[in-house]
Amino acid sequence: MAHLKVISELLIGLDLDTADGGKAGPPFELPYGLTLPEREKDRWRHHLDVVTAARRLAVTLEGPAAPDGSREQVILKGLAERDSAALAVLAALRQGSSPPAVTGFAKVQQILDEGLRGLALECFGHNEFWHTDEGQFIAAASAAGLRAVKPGDGARSNLVLALRGDKPFGSDTGTPGGGFRRMPGGRAPIDPTRIDFIKQWIERPPCCRTCRANQSD
Ligand code: HEM
Repeated sequence: MAHLKVISELLIGLDLDTADGGKAGPPFELPYGLTLPEREKDRWRHHLDVVTAARRLAVTLEGPAAPDGSREQVILKGLAERDSAALAVLAALRQGSSPPAVTGFAKVQQILDEGLRGLALECFGHNEFWHTDEGQFIAAASAAGLRAVKPGDGARSNLVLALRGDKPFGSDTGTPGGGFRRMPGGRAPIDPTRIDFIKQWIERPPCCRTCRANQSD
């Protein structure tokens, strides 16, 4: 569902047939049946089939319909990454195992990805600067020229200030002195408990950031 907005925004900009004809539109409809299989394993299989079909369609569209560097390609890449992650979780659930717990930096990345709700950021002000390895993220990640993380100081890290809409962010939410919008710009705010997770992750000493025993949800 999180992807529908970005897909529909793309579709309404495309020609229906020819350049001088009408514009395309989102053809989203409910499927003809909403009945789910009775057995739990089959229900997961059903979801797996749907996501697998979407992945195949993305592969077909790559290339001719989505040339390198195009907005279509950026969106397809984002969809493919999220679908691949979903497939891994669904495959585990289908086998009756719990999906691997997401902790530490992987969880920080997941929170930020989910905050985008399907938007492919490369099209706008900055890229998904958290799509890097943990060490690089802490030492050098930045957006719009501002360092994202102040190691050990979650409350004063730009990443946390940005998500909370605290100065120098929050120009759209009435924060005095806010020069940039609250992040993610133009999207729903990220849940405060999730922002706290990121803050606490930044505050952990380097040795504990990667130590699984210290990674509570
Ligand atoms: C160090 C932290 C960050 C800084 C300094 C920063 C800075 C900026 C700036 C300068 C812009 C363009 C102007 C504006 O929209 O106000 C922008 C846009 C945006 N940023 Fe960030 N950002 C940060 C973190 C994030 C994070 C973590 C997310 C997502 C979870 C995010 C999502 C967005 C989105 C969705 C837009 C707007 C795209 C649009 O115009 O529709 N940003 N950011």
